[in-house]
Amino acid sequence: MNVQPTSETQKGQGDLTQVGIPLGKNPLAESRQQVIVATNQEAFFKDFLDFLSHDYDVVLTDTRRSVLDEPQKPRTAAIILSEYPSDLDARDFLRRLKQPGHCHPIVIAMGRQWSPWLTFVERQTSIDGVIYYESPVEHQIRTFGLLASRGVDYCIDELGDRAQAIWRLAKDLVGHIEAHMKTGQPVPRMAVRVLAQSAVEGPDEILLMDFLSKLRSHHHETLVHSLDVALTALLLGRHVGIRMKGDQYLLFEAGLLHDIGKTKVPQSILSKPGKLLPHELAEMRQHPEAGERMLLESGDYDKQVIFAAGQHHEKNDGTGYPRGLVGSQLSEIGRFMAVCDVFCALTERRSYRSKSSAIQACALLRPLVDNHLDGVLVERLIEMVYGYMAARQFSRDDWAVTA
Ligand SMILES: [Fe+2]
Ligand SMILES: [Fe+2]
Repeated sequence: MNVQPTSETQKGQGDLTQVGIPLGKNPLAESRQQVIVATNQEAFFKDFLDFLSHDYDVVLTDTRRSVLDEPQKPRTAAIILSEYPSDLDARDFLRRLKQPGHCHPIVIAMGRQWSPWLTFVERQTSIDGVIYYESPVEHQIRTFGLLASRGVDYCIDELGDRAQAIWRLAKDLVGHIEAHMKTGQPVPRMAVRVLAQSAVEGPDEILLMDFLSKLRSHHHETLVHSLDVALTALLLGRHVGIRMKGDQYLLFEAGLLHDIGKTKVPQSILSKPGKLLPHELAEMRQHPEAGERMLLESGDYDKQVIFAAGQHHEKNDGTGYPRGLVGSQLSEIGRFMAVCDVFCALTERRSYRSKSSAIQACALLRPLVDNHLDGVLVERLIEMVYGYMAARQFSRDDWAVTA
């Protein structure tokens, strides 16, 4: 498979001013997600609120029951309740939450461990999660982020049947992989192919881009990142002129499985906010080789998919890992996947930082060209992003405010 741009698709390369960007209303305008915190104890968990406000628009209210009546932003991520069990207002809120057919945002209760209030709300089936004041703030944020990622279900629903089908298959695949890992079985090839089929044969490019736009606004999880890289690889592949369906399948599968080796890395390292200690970093850096081994041992995967897993952290100048290969030693799919992986990592929300908008990510990619990333592929990716903006009639400003 040749993943370099064809001469036909190189026309206009690098000249982004040629791409018309009409100003207009952004139909997917992404403001930051809103988190409503219902409490009269705000001073008590100020650190948490400060941390939360890095990533979300935090709205404070001391009346819980009114929250469900107020027009909320469609992208409301969560409501956090922080109160004591004697509070009738909180009880009333919970009662309304349980009304059949009521579609509500994610609800998280916050309180002190062993407090009567938490004991009370933990019994409520309509509560999505609990955060303890006593936990370190980083842990609170991580818990919150994982819960908030459930919101992706609501967002994908808005895109219709085809997008829903991809999301459902992706979640099923994760279940399959987890089950197989526990029993030491190989990564299930058939489930991977079914998901690839739904992406390659199904929605058009614009719908896939819309799908990514929704997906990236949520907290990072391996599933979101893997699907993000898979779809970005598929779209970039089509953009550089890959027309053969078989090659498109391979790109999608390579993207989906590039980080499969992370299933061997302890969760405490994977989800640690902030910097890793040297020994943790060393362990994390084993995931490309671990992934390569897993795919090789399964005996089912194309070598392109295996190269993608093993080489996506290598750099042109030989400073990457695990083998420190230089550009000429890298496979095309390895260079291709490195570009997609870095771009997606920049545009996804993480527990320890906000995401960059697609335009900001493009600007951040440019300095990485040559030493780290393949310059031609980076330019083609940037061109694709601007092309999407034009097709969706986004303005540069619409995208600039999404971080
Ligand atoms: Fe990776
Ligand atoms: Fe990755």
